Amino acid sequence: MKRHEIQYREYPHHQDLNGEDGILLTKAKEALSRSYAPYSKFQVGAAALLANGQIVTGFNIENAAYPVCLCAEQTTMSAIRTQHPGVGIEAIAISVKSAHHLVDQPATPCGKCRQLLSEQERVNQKHIRLILQGEEGPIWIFESVNDLLPFSFTSEFL
Ligand code: THU
Repeated sequence: MKRHEIQYREYPHHQDLNGEDGILLTKAKEALSRSYAPYSKFQVGAAALLANGQIVTGFNIENAAYPVCLCAEQTTMSAIRTQHPGVGIEAIAISVKSAHHLVDQPATPCGKCRQLLSEQERVNQKHIRLILQGEEGPIWIFESVNDLLPFSFTSEFL
């Protein structure tokens, strides 16, 4: 039997983070308040720190035709690739808030967004750090997208 292990850090409070990660998480929380989520009432915000020091934010954008909904990671990635072409990503903070219940655990990115971020990491040739928190509760830090999507599909298969 083969085993695959992943490592991540858990911090109990926002103030336990280093300054850079703390700022990024605050920006992700600000971004989620601008999300358009009238159907799920589940707001997601993301803030990415680029290699040039700039911070780009995004949020989920829903649609009456449900499959058209865009995840926060998608809108953020799209803003990065279109507005800052060729610039690498150091880290992305993601936070969520639900109108239905208190989210007190980090919500991890959906499968599609893991795939999207995973390819960006390969293009970057540098790990992208993920900083995740619910509305409150512990913060999880993954040093690489790959930790959340091992055995990912890559262009090498094509
Ligand atoms: N959502 C995200 O923005 N990112 C994810 O990784 C998972 C889900 C959004 C999509 C939809 O607007 C809402 O959360 C509920 O699924």
